[in-house]
Amino acid sequence: MKIGVFDSGLGGLTVVQALTQVIKGAELFYIADTKHAPYGEKSPEQILRYSLDITNYFLKEYQIDVLIIACNTATSAAIQTIREQYPDLIVIGTEPGIKPAFEQTQTGKVGVLATPATLKGEKYQQLAGTLSAQKEVVLYEQACPGLVEQIEKGEIHTDKTREMLLSWLDPMKKNDVDTIVLGCTHYPLVSEVIEHVMERRLTLIHTGDAIAKRLLSLGEQTGHRNEGALKISLFSTANISNEIVHNIIGREIDAKTINL
Ligand code: DGL
Repeated sequence: MKIGVFDSGLGGLTVVQALTQVIKGAELFYIADTKHAPYGEKSPEQILRYSLDITNYFLKEYQIDVLIIACNTATSAAIQTIREQYPDLIVIGTEPGIKPAFEQTQTGKVGVLATPATLKGEKYQQLAGTLSAQKEVVLYEQACPGLVEQIEKGEIHTDKTREMLLSWLDPMKKNDVDTIVLGCTHYPLVSEVIEHVMERRLTLIHTGDAIAKRLLSLGEQTGHRNEGALKISLFSTANISNEIVHNIIGREIDAKTINL
């Protein structure tokens, strides 16, 4: 099985990390589109263009069988068009885990952290509306502009990142939120800071494990034998930090720069 995975940067590697726990005997190609990051502050048309360029690259260069959009923002803007344009490609997207959050909250107060584009997107709005009609839960939605850049720079435990999170999380802290949806694949990388700022036991929801299970099940249906090594190749469209790659994946992987 050949798997193409992409995100605007290194955040999608949190999904790859979950895949490494479950998927064997496959080749995985990851593109960090750092030249165009952050996606979350771009228009839906721009995000769709980047996503289609990456999909075409994967298909032309590596003949992938499966595409994983390891980015909530790109899933919202592009998954429908990609599925329409490539009906033979298996496409798995990433969506904020508000459904499990609605199921797990004890206080009935749920926080959602995501990029501005994801929160504004139709997909998110529809899902939040459907779930809110089924169960009474107060949602504290917060866009986090600038957080992706902090994470890409490796600025996780810095004063600036802590202050940004302090101001965004303040209403959640004051209002008994017990469950926070990490609606951007970069945000699991600041989980510790979020827990520290919230000063309480929290359920943090991210979707890497669910994506890994989905890929395994779809792979089995198409005859994938889940045995042997998982080979990972890494590409980026501008500079990335090898140290961050190592911190997420737990090993060194040299990234090649590509022009997209
Ligand atoms: N990691 C991405 C997401 O899940 C996108 C972040 C960005 O580039 O704004 O939404």
